[in-house]
Amino acid sequence: MKKEVIICRCEEISEEEIVKVIKQGYTSLNEIKRLLRCGMGHCQGRSCLPVIARLICKYAHKSPSEIKFPTSRPPLKPIPLDVLAQYNKKS
Ligand code: FES
Repeated sequence: MKKEVIICRCEEISEEEIVKVIKQGYTSLNEIKRLLRCGMGHCQGRSCLPVIARLICKYAHKSPSEIKFPTSRPPLKPIPLDVLAQYNKKS
């Protein structure tokens, strides 16, 4: 029995799924993130993206300096929940 190794625990993406898309030619973290949603979970890729970068190096024969990490985009300004709750009442 083959054991499945989960790389992205937030989105439950396995190593096998990631290696499959790398072998299909998707060799950037942004492409893999868009295809599989890894890096879009609660940790925002803190756990999985470094591991996926190593998989890209291994299977796409890239050096670590060629791997670009996705830009994190925090909210411009936090929005209080009561403001959001009022939104539907005004419109
Ligand atoms: S482990 Fe991948 S987004 Fe959290």
